[in-house]
This record gives sequence, C-alpha cells and structure tokens, in this order.
Amino acid sequence: MTNVLVLGGTGMLRGLVLRLLEEPNEVFVLARRPEGLRALSEEAQAAAERLTPMALDYHDLDRLGHWVAHVQLMHGPIDQVVAWVAGDRNQVLSVVDTEIYRYRHSPWDLFDIHGSRAAMEPRPVPQLHDNCRYHRVILGFRVEAEGSRWLSHQEIVDGVWRAMAHPEKETIVGQVLPVDLRPPSD
Ligand SMILES: NC(=O)c1ccc[n+]([C@@H]2O[C@H](COP(=O)([O-])OP(=O)(O)OC[C@H]3O[C@@H](n4cnc5c(N)ncnc54)[C@H](OP(=O)(O)O)[C@@H]3O)[C@@H](O)[C@H]2O)c1
Repeated sequence: MTNVLVLGGTGMLRGLVLRLLEEPNEVFVLARRPEGLRALSEEAQAAAERLTPMALDYHDLDRLGHWVAHVQLMHGPIDQVVAWVAGDRNQVLSVVDTEIYRYRHSPWDLFDIHGSRAAMEPRPVPQLHDNCRYHRVILGFRVEAEGSRWLSHQEIVDGVWRAMAHPEKETIVGQVLPVDLRPPSD
C-alpha cells in the first residue's frame, strides 16, 4: 500500500484522487470546503474506505503539521505528495516535508504542480530534507487548429499521472512554448 497525500485535491485534481484510489493506495486529501470532500468520497464509492479527507486551510501551518503527523501515526509514513498549492507554497511544503521527515528517512516523492508561468521563471527548489525527491510539474497549454487553449482537467490528471509513473526533475504537461501562443490567462 502506498500512502499518497494530495494538497488541493477537490478541484482539477479530483480525477487524480479517484484514479489513485483505483490502485492499492491510501489517499489523504486536503481542501478547505467539506462539500467538495464529501462529493469526492461519494464518487469514490467502496474505495472511500482508503480515502481520508480533511477540511483544512493548508496555510494554517500548525493545523497542517498536526494533521500530517496524525495521518502518519494512523497509517504509516507518507510515500508521495501531490501539491497544488496557491499562495506561499514553500512554507506549506516545508511543514509537510518536516512532518514526513519525523516518520521516515528513506526517499519519498514530492510532485509540486505549477501553472505555466513557472516555465518563464527561475527554478527555486524549496528547502527540503535530503530524502525528499522533488519533482516540478508544469501545466502548459495546447495549440490546436482553432488556436491555443488551457488544458482540460482530464489532460491535467493524465499528465500528473504520467509524471508520477515516470518521475523526472521536471515534467511539462502540454507545452509552454512558444510563449506568444500562450492563452490569455491561467
Ligand atoms: N495550464 C493549465 O491549463 C491550468 C493551470 C492551472 C489551473 N488551470 C485551471 O484553472 C482552474 C482553477 O484553478 P484553481 O487553482 O482554482 O484550482 P482547482 O484545482 O480547481 O481548485 C483548487 C483546489 O485546492 C483547494 N484549495 C485552494 N486553496 C486551499 C487552501 N488554502 N487550503 C486547502 N485547500 C485549498 C481547493 O479546495 P477548496 O476551495 O475547498 O479549499 C481545490 O481542491 C482549474 O480547475 C484548471 O482548470 C489550468
């Protein structure tokens, strides 16, 4: 059984959570609103017994740390984290990393998901313990005959799934070039 934590798992990553639950994974999902988490549990049906939803603001760092410690006490160390974090991601990732380090010193994987702007910015890797294998996943766009567009949720889920199956330092889902074909906003 693999223990997977998904930060921000009720929006575009909902399909990823459901797909993770099709495999023998224990999945922990964070979002602020209970209704999104409830809907996810209902959709997971029988697999919901391997789903631990938590309504919590990940910027509340004390509560976040306590919860990450708690799930590891109950289920063992976390193996993989998928992080779709808005705002100051480094503080959030640092708390998660610190709590995981308390329970394991062997390698684990962090998939840090970014919007397409990340491709135009330097690549600052957050300060993490040595046993954290950091993978940056950048969500780009698609260019089609009718013009360019942002990725669909299904494309995002498929891309993150592939990034988890074949972990690289950086994975680009869709494309980030040419910059002038980037759709108006993401
Ligand atoms: N390149 C691309 O194509 C691209 C890139 C990025 C985004 N997008 C699109 O933009 C849409 C909107 O993006 P979005 O950022 O709103 O993403 P989203 O994935 O639709 O929603 C954000 C997720 O994070 C949770 N969340 C947000 N703030 C949180 C907090 N402080 N603490 C805990 N959980 C938190 C949300 O649940 P709660 O609200 O309940 O907390 C939800 O589960 C996406 O659905 C996607 O279609 C496209």
